This record gives sequence, structure tokens and C-alpha cells, in this order.
Amino acid sequence: MANVTACIDTATKQIAGALGLEKREARLEAQILASCALKVNRAWLIAHDQDVLTPTQADAVEALIARREQGEPVAYILGEKEFYGRLFRITPDVLIPRPETELLVEAALERLPKDRPAQVLDLGTGSGCVAVTLALERPDCEVSAVDMSITALEIARENAALLGAGHVRFIVSDWYAQLAPMNFDMIISNPPYIASDDPHLGKGDLRHEPLHALASGPAGMDAISTIVAGAQARLQPGGWLILEHGYDQAAACYDLICLAGLGQVFTLSDLAGQTRVTGGQWPGRR
Ligand SMILES: C[S@@+](CC[C@H](N)C(=O)[O-])C[C@H]1O[C@@H](n2cnc3c(N)ncnc32)[C@H](O)[C@@H]1O
Repeated sequence: MANVTACIDTATKQIAGALGLEKREARLEAQILASCALKVNRAWLIAHDQDVLTPTQADAVEALIARREQGEPVAYILGEKEFYGRLFRITPDVLIPRPETELLVEAALERLPKDRPAQVLDLGTGSGCVAVTLALERPDCEVSAVDMSITALEIARENAALLGAGHVRFIVSDWYAQLAPMNFDMIISNPPYIASDDPHLGKGDLRHEPLHALASGPAGMDAISTIVAGAQARLQPGGWLILEHGYDQAAACYDLICLAGLGQVFTLSDLAGQTRVTGGQWPGRR
């Protein structure tokens, strides 16, 4: 019979060996997965390190470790991922929210008018992490969230209900195509932006995520081009378009946004120093 320490040590070796992770990262994953299987927190694992696991408990841990060894992302195994300090429910129907996307949220919060409610459109909402976060941070704003995936919208709706953002409007649409005629103070999007032949799509966590959430044409720019091209017709005077993009797409996004007639164009870098978010403002005042 193995105790908690032995179980975590074995799981760490299994994960590190199968996925080629550093020991520290593999141990963290082993602890997170063991916590989930045993329905305890990580502090409990440390406090009870000499406790002997029952066969049922050991089997429960081993089942989750085996899934991770096969490469399944930790967030899909847990069924949740933290974003902007809140836990979002996640299934393989939606992209796993990324820490970089918090920069998109921060860029939006800085630019939303402070003195009045605003209409916000989140294009490609997936789990709803961006739309729900904005709705909770700015409850006075009206947030509409679009996705072409009905299953993703079901998850997003569930997250909105669980987190208390019941006022977000969810719409099935191919970008702007099925939207009712209405204009927004802000259009925000983390669209798919990876080139469709990028070999990374077949590796790591990416191979488990929905392809339509990741890949967008030969240069990864198809969705971004469509969103920029349609923004002018959907923005209020003074409204902002803010996009997340790949580390090497800032210049292309910047040019597209300028060519579309937007001003105050800006690019922001993430904590790793990679350019991640580019946006611009439709001229005029509301
Ligand atoms: C990169 S994911 C972003 C998900 C979420 N906003 C986030 O940041 O984690 C892109 C999303 O765009 C959606 N999408 C792809 N093509 C679309 C289209 N033509 N119209 C609407 N949504 C689309 C995908 O289903 C996916 O949920």
C-alpha cells in the first residue's frame, strides 16, 4: 500500500517520463491531479503525506494520471480553468483560457467609458471567459457574446450562470453575419489565429483543443481580417476594436486596423514580452 508521498512521487515520474516535462512542473501536475482525484486541496496532501491510500483512492489517482500520460490537458481532466481570478468550466468543446488573454481583458477595461454603460461585443467567446469577466467587472455594461459553435455557447452560458453574469447575451453567429443590426462601443476578440499548416497544432495541449478555435487560414489571419473588415460597420463613433493575436502578427494587425480607418492604434505586450494585443478606435465621439 502506497502513502501519499509515494503516490505523488510515482505520478511525477510517470508524467515527466510520458510528456518530457521538468520534474518541478510534473510534480505540480501530479499534486493537482491527485487533489482532484482525492477531492482534497494541495495543503491536505502535504499535511497528510504519510497517510496510506485505500485501493479505491489509489485507483482514482492512477486513472487521472493515465489520462495525463496520454497527453490530455490538465484543464480538460479537471474540467475547469482559472481566468482573471475566477474558475470557468471547461470541456474539449472550448479553448482552454490562457493567461495571455487577461491582457485583452485589461486593455478592454482601460478603454471602456468610465462614466456611462457601454455595449460590448465579444467575438469567438468559447468558454465565455472574456465576455463573462467583462460583464462581472463592469456590471453596468451590456455584453453580447458570439460563437459559431453551439456547444461552446452552452458552456459559456453555463459559466455565465455559475458566476452570476446572467445578463450576458449569447448569439450563434458566423462573426457578424447573424447579428441583429446594432452598433457597439467595443468589439473584442481572441479569434483563431494559428496558420492551418502549423505543426504545433498536432502537438501538446493544442492537439486536444477544437481546431476551429485555433487555426484560421494559411497565415492564421483569415478570422482577424474578417473581424477587422466588418468592425467599421458595427462600431459606434469613438468605439474600440481590440484583438488578441499571435506573437508575430502585431505588424499585420496594426496595418489592417489602420487601413480600416481606425485611429489611436496601439499594440500591447504580454508578461513574456511578446506582442499579443492590438487595437484601434473608430473616429468620432458618441
Ligand atoms: C481562440 S478561441 C477563443 C475562446 C475564448 N474567447 C478565449 O479567449 O478563451 C476562438 C473562438 O472563436 C470561435 N470561432 C471560430 N470561427 C468562428 C466564426 N466564423 N464565427 C464565430 N466564432 C468563431 C471558436 O469556436 C472559438 O470558440
